[in-house]
Amino acid sequence: MKTPIHIAVTGAAGRIGYSLLPRIVSGDLFGPDQPVVLQLIEVPSVLKSLDGVLMELLDCAFPLLENAITTTDLEEGFRGVNWALLVGSVPRRAGMERKDLLSINGRIFVDQGRAIQRNAASDVRVLVVGNPCNTNCLIAMNNARDVPDNRWFAMSRLDENRAKVQLAEKTGRHCREVTNVAIWGNHSSTLYPDFLNARIGGRLVCEVISDVGWLRGGFIQSVQQRGSAIIHATGLSSAQSAAHAIVETIRSIAEPTSTGDWHSVSLCSDGSYGIERGLVASFPVLSREGCVEIVQGLQTDPFGQSKIAASISELREERSVIRELLKN
Ligand code: LMR
Repeated sequence: MKTPIHIAVTGAAGRIGYSLLPRIVSGDLFGPDQPVVLQLIEVPSVLKSLDGVLMELLDCAFPLLENAITTTDLEEGFRGVNWALLVGSVPRRAGMERKDLLSINGRIFVDQGRAIQRNAASDVRVLVVGNPCNTNCLIAMNNARDVPDNRWFAMSRLDENRAKVQLAEKTGRHCREVTNVAIWGNHSSTLYPDFLNARIGGRLVCEVISDVGWLRGGFIQSVQQRGSAIIHATGLSSAQSAAHAIVETIRSIAEPTSTGDWHSVSLCSDGSYGIERGLVASFPVLSREGCVEIVQGLQTDPFGQSKIAASISELREERSVIRELLKN
């Protein structure tokens, strides 16, 4: 029997948590023989509801669930964890941009960063999902300076998956045939889904889709606005697709990337592609032997460069709004 992996999930009683927790304990993240311990964190007002979520989970009798706790205490919640999934935050409503949540959610990530630094296992990795996830990740990372920068991630896989589906629908192909989709910048309405390097059935997208107007217009906007479209349609932000993207993000970080492909995740920029060092921005990455590396040498054109620059400029603006929260 392997040593269990300890996983903290914040906002565990929320809708994403409800879709995510059974996936974690069925082995979707770390494999069918990897036991897990869940450390489920919530705010006091929904602790009772979280206890109910845990009762249901226990009633599934999952063989991989070694133990689980519920708590409102960050120290207890992050104690000894190998992965911290920071899902909890106030979601946006119709008409809001994700960055409008910074003043409400930003401070939560100060406390969580500090508690992770004090309590987590020495190999902890963190995935931030609560919006605006890139800048919330920046806040938490800067409040846990002893945890190396390369352990911090924010989610852009949802945007990658959305882009794949749009490209597949346009060409009448299946989304499993779409590869090499890079998401650049911020998880926001400025993100840039890179069609120049993407492939369908092994061929460059631009060789398969001649409608450049759609690629530069409708395609990009549909990916940028998909979160808003879901909120508009359902009155609630995405949960099932977000939970699935969490599963795929962690699996893609933990497992080696298929040859020739890459996946997208936001991480602390090392200055690659001229993106300011220290910002948490989305890049195409490869996972090898447990390390995540930014894919180097990808072709960019002036159109793509201007889109990436706009998204990075938004990340700088967000940072200037929360600068006070970066001082620990
Ligand atoms: C999404 O992209 O669906 C999530 O980030 C939720 C949101 O606010 O759009």
